[in-house]
Amino acid sequence: MTVTHITESFAGLDTPLLVVPVFTDDTALSGWAAEADAGLGGAIARARDAGDLAGKKSRASVFYGSGAGPQRVLVLGVGSKDEFDAEAARRFAGRGVRRAESLSIAELTLRLEGTGLAVEVAAKAAAEAATMAAWRFTEMKTRSDGDDEDDLEFRVSTIGLSVDGDEEAVGDAIRMGGTIGRGVNLARTLQSRPGNVATPTHLADEAARMAAETGLAVTIMGPEELLAENMHAILAVSRGSIEEPRLIVLEHSGGSEGDAPLVLVGKGLTFDAGGISIKPAKGMEDMKFDMSGGAAVIGAMQAIAELKVPLNVVGIIPSCENLPSGTAMKPGDIIKSREGKTIEVVNTDAEGRLILADALSYAQTFDPAAIVDCATLTGAVVTALGHHAAGVLGNDEGLVEELREAGERSGERCWPLPLWDDYKRQLDSEVADIVNVGGRSAGTITAACFLSAFVGDCTWAHLDIAGTAYGEGKRPYERKGGVGLPARLLVEWVRSRAG
Ligand code: BES
Ligand code: MN
Ligand code: ZN
Repeated sequence: MTVTHITESFAGLDTPLLVVPVFTDDTALSGWAAEADAGLGGAIARARDAGDLAGKKSRASVFYGSGAGPQRVLVLGVGSKDEFDAEAARRFAGRGVRRAESLSIAELTLRLEGTGLAVEVAAKAAAEAATMAAWRFTEMKTRSDGDDEDDLEFRVSTIGLSVDGDEEAVGDAIRMGGTIGRGVNLARTLQSRPGNVATPTHLADEAARMAAETGLAVTIMGPEELLAENMHAILAVSRGSIEEPRLIVLEHSGGSEGDAPLVLVGKGLTFDAGGISIKPAKGMEDMKFDMSGGAAVIGAMQAIAELKVPLNVVGIIPSCENLPSGTAMKPGDIIKSREGKTIEVVNTDAEGRLILADALSYAQTFDPAAIVDCATLTGAVVTALGHHAAGVLGNDEGLVEELREAGERSGERCWPLPLWDDYKRQLDSEVADIVNVGGRSAGTITAACFLSAFVGDCTWAHLDIAGTAYGEGKRPYERKGGVGLPARLLVEWVRSRAG
């Protein structure tokens, strides 16, 4: 599915569904809404005068044309103009696609005008969200929920987007939004696949396939290579499972040879049962999403490659399962990390930080300009920030602020938590160099403190996405399940570094 750039005027338009916005502060219909109204004999104006289109958010009406012009016009109330930002453009596009779905229409045209946004911002955001909204995960279903077999196959397949402005700039913005949306959708597809399908081997195969398609270099490390690299923390976590661990490395060479790369690291734990410190059964099925960070890095790397970002960027995904078994690591075990520190494992369910410790240590072999990792790391981040923001922590305030701003622009917000030395003392061990759990308080911070012990003197930041990577699908361009977050944030941050 690609979003196409509509350059026709209203008069030249032939579409089964045209979607136009109406703002609260509009005193009269204007632009395409006014043109559509003329073709409908004033029906939109009458609805508006009756107060049915007060322009409030979530108000929507469909009008049916006759003869020339669009077959249907969906008028969406989008709130006031001064509140209309990139996120509002995304919601507008998502609502249009959702209504097309409920009408079983495969094709629609979105018209974005009068927003007050820079056209490039509006066009990119709408194209990105339309691409995300049209995505579905149906590959595991053999029949639809209802009796209608068509429902399973039905997809919105053709989306046009009309935005006034410099034709080339708008076209570029639409292509960029579509590319980012497809990267997000790749992440969501990988997230949605269950643990028995999306194994570490599967993630590695999918990353390799994507790399071959986009021209990224790829290196896949298995048990022997991990052992040769002294990545005993990854090996320790994976010991409870029959599935082999993988370390996936994707390299985009958009910069000059020798330029320090940006390194993105994503937790790729394909199923987290907790290990011997086993989790309660309730909700454990959601732990297939414990590879969300890895999925987002794979999706972001696809977009970065396709956008030909003029920087060197490396994606690293440590991937394994965390299961209880007779061969699993045990509470009390002490493991030697790649970095050299010994780790006392008091709780085998704090496994993400173990595999990230080795991955972050390995990341330094690329002499990075900065490392950003993302991981469904702690339940505590849900207590701290709920489902509306990821936690961001790091050893460099400037980098943390760059990520916060990239999150604001991309619609994937993150919010800073402190990483003070006071918290680091919670990780002192009696018997090893560091312990993997820092007690009950400040769980997100102590988890990040643990990671910080493995980044050397690199500029580094960490995104805790346990509360945001998957969810109920409340935004109109999302669905229940994988969100693909923080793929958009990562791409936005990398692009901002490219200037
Ligand atoms: N994958 C979980 C974190 C998680 C929790 C993700 C809820 C999504 C939703 C992680 O491996 C984990 O189990 N963390 C423990 C750490 C604890 C043992 C210190 C947690 O948060 O309970
Ligand atoms: Mn765990
Ligand atoms: Zn986990």
